[in-house]
Amino acid sequence: MLVIVKENYDEMSKEAAKIVASRLRRKPNLVLGLATGSTPVGLYKELIRMHKEEGLDFSKVVTFNLDEYIGLPPQHDQSYRYFMDVNLFNHINIEKRYIHVPNGMADDIEAHCEWYEEQIKKFGGIDLQILGIGANGHIAFNEPGSSLGSRTRIKTLTQQTIKDNARFFKSIEEVPKYAITMGIGTIMEAKEIILLASGKNKADAVKAAVEGPITAMCPASIIQMHRKAFVIVDKEAASKLSQEFTG
Ligand code: GLP
Repeated sequence: MLVIVKENYDEMSKEAAKIVASRLRRKPNLVLGLATGSTPVGLYKELIRMHKEEGLDFSKVVTFNLDEYIGLPPQHDQSYRYFMDVNLFNHINIEKRYIHVPNGMADDIEAHCEWYEEQIKKFGGIDLQILGIGANGHIAFNEPGSSLGSRTRIKTLTQQTIKDNARFFKSIEEVPKYAITMGIGTIMEAKEIILLASGKNKADAVKAAVEGPITAMCPASIIQMHRKAFVIVDKEAASKLSQEFTG
């Protein structure tokens, strides 16, 4: 695990974009795992800039998103599919058929989760997975207590996550209570991982993930077991780490 502390959100985003771009130049048909939330937006902006100004080519890239709310159709402005369209896909030359986001409207959710896992395998596994982190240490929608070996499945969101995500909805009642999420086992099979965190409200979660015990109570702590993980954080998110890490 390589912890990289950057001065601010912008620097954090650029550092992550540099790594993504280098992997993409090396392997044009990169299988990229993507995350939603406010944290990776700066990374996506930088990738869009690199596409427009430097010709970074996404035409062969295959993507798999981590999660999706159950009950929100792809056109819903709070669905993760919509988020990805607006913040990345609509601005780069990615092929629609190579985009995968779990379908929160699937009739048979369990069968859909199995299908999702099969698709990841079919494309040879995820090369590089982008992750954010919840204030309670969750990754994707793997809430505290999730099995560290879990696969793509339905999860019930905790009150804290519902509260945290209410800012995107008109009222807290509108926040879905269930989601489809890649499992922790699924995420750990990615060949490389970049976990991003920014801001003071992530400092406790970052400390628990990087320096705490590996425990299902902080799902992000499993990253300590990954063979090639980058934890890229800004100074505020790193403020509770006891060790000194450099940028
Ligand atoms: C949601 C997503 C996670 C994300 C987390 C943090 O719960 N399912 O993938 O990491 O929010 O979001 P933010 O980056 O907005 O703090």
